[in-house]
Amino acid sequence: MWPHEMPPSPDELRAHVTDVDGIVSMLTERIDSDFLAAAPNLKVISNYAVGYDNVDVSAATAKGLPVGNTPGVLTEATADQAFALLLAAARRLVEGVEYIRNDEWQTWYPLQLLGSTVSGATLGIIGLGRIGHAMAQRARGFGMRILYYGGSNQAFADEVGATKVSLETLLQESDFVSLHCPLTPATRHIIDAVALTQMKSSAILVNTARGGVVDSNALLHALQTNQIRYAALDVTDPEPIAADHPLVHLPNCIVVPHLGSATWETRINMGLLAAENLLAGLRGEPLPNCVNPEVYG
Ligand code: DGY
Repeated sequence: MWPHEMPPSPDELRAHVTDVDGIVSMLTERIDSDFLAAAPNLKVISNYAVGYDNVDVSAATAKGLPVGNTPGVLTEATADQAFALLLAAARRLVEGVEYIRNDEWQTWYPLQLLGSTVSGATLGIIGLGRIGHAMAQRARGFGMRILYYGGSNQAFADEVGATKVSLETLLQESDFVSLHCPLTPATRHIIDAVALTQMKSSAILVNTARGGVVDSNALLHALQTNQIRYAALDVTDPEPIAADHPLVHLPNCIVVPHLGSATWETRINMGLLAAENLLAGLRGEPLPNCVNPEVYG
């Protein structure tokens, strides 16, 4: 067990896995071919997250190693966080808090800290998987029109009345764009300079997926030049983001430290799923949640 808050460096990690049979990894660990070469006895990789972009799954599969993740148990918590960020950005909650802390609140006036109306607005969801669907359920409660791009579960779309559109249409028509896709070569920088120019100048971007889905430099430019109105980021690229990064100091950007699944119950349930995956792998049984079931032939 690694007992420290800061994760091991790749060298430290490799030095500690020379004789392990299984590993519970987190998104702070890169499980790549160097790691696999250092752990010749490995039978299972159990990743304590639903996302597994930190794991080279092809390299693990090539060695016949099952990779487990923790889907389902963090769906609601992550959608709560995404919707909390959407509301906080729309209604400029962080600016309001700062306004009082800075002793700027002198009176009430009609144009004070005006934000965006959520109710009845259009929400564009990129990645209508489990978390995107849970986000859409919340949006329905606010009477929002829902568009989506990516994700092929028709039952999810039907249940929330979401309309499938092209990425371009989604970007052009949405008042809020919320990212819920995994980070893959196809989704890296799906929100780039071109995508940002396609968005409304009043649009708000919410990212609870992975930082790499957004081109941070392009986003910074778009926010600085009011190409879009606001961004609310639970995840960043790089991560952790430095306190002096310009995105952290923009008045129209909220950044929080990757807290999508951060509730007591969710983190415990993720731990239980990760433990079940690990134990099944050590017993040579199929993992309850396996991202590369092809290892079982
Ligand atoms: C995940 O599970 O992928 C989150 O990013 C961390 O809970």
